[in-house]
Amino acid sequence: MAAKKKQLRSQQWFGKADKDGFAHRSWMKNQGLPDHLFDGRPVIGICNTWSEFNPCNAHFRRIAEHVKRGIYEMGGFPAEFPVFSNSESQLRPTSMLFRNLASMDVEEAIRGLPMDGVVLLVGCDKTTPALLMGAASCDLPTIAISGGPMLNGKYEGTDIGSGTNTWKFDQMVKAGEMTIEAFMSAEAGNSRSSGHCNTMGTASSMASLVESIGMGMPMNAAIPAADARRYSLAHMAGRRIVQMVHEDLRMSKVLKKENFENAIMVNGAIGGSTNAVVHLLAIAGRMGIDITLDDWDRLGREIPCLVNLMPSGKYLMEDFYYAGGLPAVIRELEPYINKDALTVNGKTLWENCKDAPNWNRDVVFPLKKPFKKLGGIAVLSGNLCPNGAILKPSAASPHLMKHKGRAVVFESIEDYHDRIEDPKLDIDENCVMVLKYCGPKGYPGMAEVGNMGLPPKVLKKGITDMVRISDARMSGTAYGTVVLHAAPEAAAGGPLALVQNGDIIELDVKARKLHLHVSDEELAKRRKAWKGFKSPVKRGYAKMYVDTVLQADKGVDLDFLVGKSGTPLLRESH
Ligand code: FES
Repeated sequence: MAAKKKQLRSQQWFGKADKDGFAHRSWMKNQGLPDHLFDGRPVIGICNTWSEFNPCNAHFRRIAEHVKRGIYEMGGFPAEFPVFSNSESQLRPTSMLFRNLASMDVEEAIRGLPMDGVVLLVGCDKTTPALLMGAASCDLPTIAISGGPMLNGKYEGTDIGSGTNTWKFDQMVKAGEMTIEAFMSAEAGNSRSSGHCNTMGTASSMASLVESIGMGMPMNAAIPAADARRYSLAHMAGRRIVQMVHEDLRMSKVLKKENFENAIMVNGAIGGSTNAVVHLLAIAGRMGIDITLDDWDRLGREIPCLVNLMPSGKYLMEDFYYAGGLPAVIRELEPYINKDALTVNGKTLWENCKDAPNWNRDVVFPLKKPFKKLGGIAVLSGNLCPNGAILKPSAASPHLMKHKGRAVVFESIEDYHDRIEDPKLDIDENCVMVLKYCGPKGYPGMAEVGNMGLPPKVLKKGITDMVRISDARMSGTAYGTVVLHAAPEAAAGGPLALVQNGDIIELDVKARKLHLHVSDEELAKRRKAWKGFKSPVKRGYAKMYVDTVLQADKGVDLDFLVGKSGTPLLRESH
């Protein structure tokens, strides 16, 4: 006797022969939907972060149409729904403040609406972790599709990269090497097609994470947004999500600890963004999987950087795609990778990548002869960051990896802006720039201000890097010897709050050490005199955020959002 087919979740809305069923079906029918779509076939939600205020995701309505084709082909019923779209380039004070808000929007929409599986359309930096976090807390069959990077930027015959060249050109203007007119004229060539940042910044790192952790289809990370193959990938993902519903292949069946470990190793090999650290910790927290900063350091320590992409190298995501994309990198990582980790296409990560070709060894280097010896993320500890801080060795200057210098302290980002161009500022290239109160509670939202620009008087000497320390994040497109995510942050009473001008700070990346050369007695004295931090935030979501946000070493999630509640049957709405 054939096994009885399990009734799908959506039938709790659409399968009822009563007034509630009438209401759920009838109103949907005002969109021209015929009866047979409500017959018990998989209903697939397409969670869309389309927004004209989020240019990186502005082409997502078109991607959604291609996902729908695949869903219909496999006998599913697609329904697209919008969620909060974190715009990295437009949203103030920082889109990171709203990552958790977006994740709540996603979680409640998935749980409250009649869907059996969900496709997440992600692109601009925070949209990827926000949607993965929200979906993880629901645990339906889920596929993520990244929107793809922009084509290579062009300026005066050379390739320029999103963000990376913005910081570079800005420093050149301040050093008197570029006119402001030339700077402004680079704008249009910098962003010349749909898609997200084309460097290996946070968006590309997160698109790579989607692929390496197993939540996306092979080649998810690299296909440019303007390439037709981005749309056929969307089509195929639409087909696959329907099968996943039939297989009941939920997120928790795909994502195990080894998937997270693979994502950490791959982030090292691609010279990925430091932002991936907090996002991965937060996703793991939602899944109930134990991933810590120690895992980042342990797993990344041996991984060299294989990918010659900005900000660590010279190429861009378009070149990365033509070279073979992420599968070519994963194939190189054979000695490290957890080969049995499952992915959403039903195959393991290794099955997807083991025969991947490499078409350009100057873009994806071999493991035996890496692009840079140090990939990964270095996790530092010491009396300045008892719960850790991080640094990206592949984007740092080798001569500063072991450095001792005099602290020049900025009490806020406004203090930094007010004084950095002052010729009388007592600073030289051997100093250590320290920025306070820019962490999760302090900013609020842990803005990307940790890569403070250098003082013009230092830049004019031809110096392009100094050691910088803060509780902030930095853009994934940025570079430099920048210590980030110091925890606890200054606003939470971390030792960073106690640093004073003239203190000596020692950084030793190899020893994973960050030390403030001030005695315990003196620090205790300073702590007694510390006035504490009073957040100016008084109401709304930001107040809830400041009151409940976790520190960087815990992924900056809100304390009450950690974990998942699945999709239990909720009370009827009528
Ligand atoms: Fe959207 Fe960079 S601004 S990805």
